[in-house]
Amino acid sequence: MGSNGERVAVYPGSFDPLTNGHVDIILRGSKIFDRIVVAILENVEKTPLFGLEERIEIAREVFKQQSNVEVDEFGGLLVDYVEQRGADVIVRGLRAISDFEYELQMALMNHRLNPQVETIFMMPTEPYTYVSSKLVKEVVMLGGSVSGLVPKTVERLLRKKRASS
Ligand code: PNS
Repeated sequence: MGSNGERVAVYPGSFDPLTNGHVDIILRGSKIFDRIVVAILENVEKTPLFGLEERIEIAREVFKQQSNVEVDEFGGLLVDYVEQRGADVIVRGLRAISDFEYELQMALMNHRLNPQVETIFMMPTEPYTYVSSKLVKEVVMLGGSVSGLVPKTVERLLRKKRASS
């Protein structure tokens, strides 16, 4: 619970780039919690296609009408960031069995690091069960269409990156 009695959840990720699968979870999460903080990881292990500033700008643009969706960046331990934000819940999307092992490990590690923080999982709505940032990038870079799978602004920026690559 936040200091002002708000229930705040953090939805962390690399968002390289934001997909409609992420958007779906964030919008649905924003109905469950008073506020949802989209926390964008500063240092993604591999070089991201979209820089941190771009990833932040995209998310701010997409959620500009949602007053209880906040976009922020974070580095260091996720549980420390969650505590710092006055939140006690981490939201993660869970698509398929292939996601399960990684998500289980992270949830258990985060729980060990800070037992006050709970991880909750949300299933994507059906059309997005197979959508991932990785596949979206691959399809666009090879000339395919990802229309309907990512926000319009992401689609446009992906096309621009392809043209300049
Ligand atoms: O979108 P992703 O790449 O699946 O998100 C992964 C993320 C950002 C949730 C994860 O890498 C993370 O929490 N990184 C912060 C570092 C940390 O706290 N590591 C220990 C948690 S197991």
